[in-house]
Amino acid sequence: MTYITKNERETESIGENFAKSLKPGCIVALRGEMGAGKTVFVRGVARGLGISGRVTSPTYTVVNEYNGEMPLFHFDLYRLGSADELFEIGFDDYLSRGGVCLIEWFEKAEDEYAPDIVVDIVYGEEEDTRSINIREI
Ligand SMILES: Nc1ncnc2c1ncn2[C@@H]1O[C@H](COP(=O)(O)OP(=O)(O)OP(=O)(O)O)[C@@H](O)[C@H]1O
Ligand SMILES: [Mg+2]
Repeated sequence: MTYITKNERETESIGENFAKSLKPGCIVALRGEMGAGKTVFVRGVARGLGISGRVTSPTYTVVNEYNGEMPLFHFDLYRLGSADELFEIGFDDYLSRGGVCLIEWFEKAEDEYAPDIVVDIVYGEEEDTRSINIREI
């Protein structure tokens, strides 16, 4: 499925609707350049899961945890050296806790882990437009 959004709010609502299809233990890889809108999309997913707290980028913390209808684990692997480090922070434990894992910069871990769903966010030609492709693997 591919969606075109014209602003941040529209990307959030795509994320919000997408949240309805998520099942416990699901791994979602978020792809896209810096500033594409991965974190914005996660904000929408959080809203869809009934999470009221503010969603901020976990760049320095690697993972932020939110409690909604099911737990949401928001990873940003940008600063991660390798998949080994992901193992060290206990990624497997997160997986077994019945939450959904939304992971920015999953490329760093793809040799070791496989996503269930890939979300690709690409800049459109006009300012503030984005193309969002969601596919199950
Ligand atoms: N259609 C759109 N969808 C999403 N964000 C948009 C859109 N148009 C403009 N923006 C802006 O683009 C930026 C997206 O930032 P965001 O932090 O979500 O990017 P990111 O992909 O998570 O980047 P990073 O890899 O640095 O974490 C925000 O400033 C947002 O306001
Ligand atoms: Mg981000």
